[in-house]
Amino acid sequence: MDIEFLGKLVKAVGVSGYEDEVAELIKSEMEKYADSVEVDTMGNVIGLKKGNGKGKIMLAAHMDEIGFVVSHIDKNWFIFVSPVGGINVKTLISTRVIVHGRSKCYGIMGSIPPHAKKEKKELSIEDIFVDIGAKNKEEVLEKGIDIGSIITYDGDLKKLSGKRYTSKTMDDRIGVFILIETLKRVKSPYDVYFVATVQEEVGLRGAKVSGYKISPEIAIAVDVTLAMDVPDVKEHKMITELGKGPAITIMDRSVIGNRKLNSFIEKIAEEEKIPLQKNILMRGGTDAGSIHLIKEGVVSTTLSIPTRFVHSTVECVDMADVENAVTLLVKSLERLDSFVV
Ligand code: CO
Ligand code: ZN
Repeated sequence: MDIEFLGKLVKAVGVSGYEDEVAELIKSEMEKYADSVEVDTMGNVIGLKKGNGKGKIMLAAHMDEIGFVVSHIDKNWFIFVSPVGGINVKTLISTRVIVHGRSKCYGIMGSIPPHAKKEKKELSIEDIFVDIGAKNKEEVLEKGIDIGSIITYDGDLKKLSGKRYTSKTMDDRIGVFILIETLKRVKSPYDVYFVATVQEEVGLRGAKVSGYKISPEIAIAVDVTLAMDVPDVKEHKMITELGKGPAITIMDRSVIGNRKLNSFIEKIAEEEKIPLQKNILMRGGTDAGSIHLIKEGVVSTTLSIPTRFVHSTVECVDMADVENAVTLLVKSLERLDSFVV
């Protein structure tokens, strides 16, 4: 697997609605392996690997990331923000960010040091400010920063122990990465559409229009789910564990995984000796939530990568799960012939 490319993927800018930079990176990578690649009106990148006319299957992974837009610049030139997507305010203090004006500049999400007295209250996004080090208005304006400029987390892909990696935006660049690794290897009787979707984090929006355009018989979203195998979490609340295989969605807030498709994938996993977990997540959804409701309905499910610290700058995955997800998808797509919708 191309870890170097994963490094580029997680770094690329792509706050919901501003996916151009990451879309360009994905498009040029897909062009190496797909029969065709196009970008639709909303910005979804759609790569097609042709089969022998058996039918259409859509794999979707979202390329957008959570982030911020500048909502206010105060008289001391501190920057206030509105969140784009589900931001956990607790993760923001002392976080390094990039403010995208005319060019990129670094900033810090401020916090008051413990030495200073402060009132104890629940932290809210309105309390968060970004310090870019500006001393006056000119310094801010010079950089082209204005209301609506986007702000992203700063951070690189870093290897932890063994096969574990941490970075910002594993959600869901790891899904896009899996799609591209699958595209490289897949041979399927079906036309397989590999879609890097936009605006998932603000309500599964890109998948809705790209799914409508493709109108597949079957769809599989590839996304992250919560690995809760960390201290103080009770065993029955772990949802998934790192390194124990990808997870097939039984149910989340957006979709009930198609039972026939799930059993098919479970059977392939069993035959190929690929570890597979079951995912029940009552908060959050995936692109499958949009796709399964398109037109007369699409047979859909989600394959998830267990991830620790989701929606933070240090999202953590195990590459063994990623490898297993790719193998499972490749084998499933090869043998879809035996799956009658
Ligand atoms: Co997310
Ligand atoms: Zn996601």
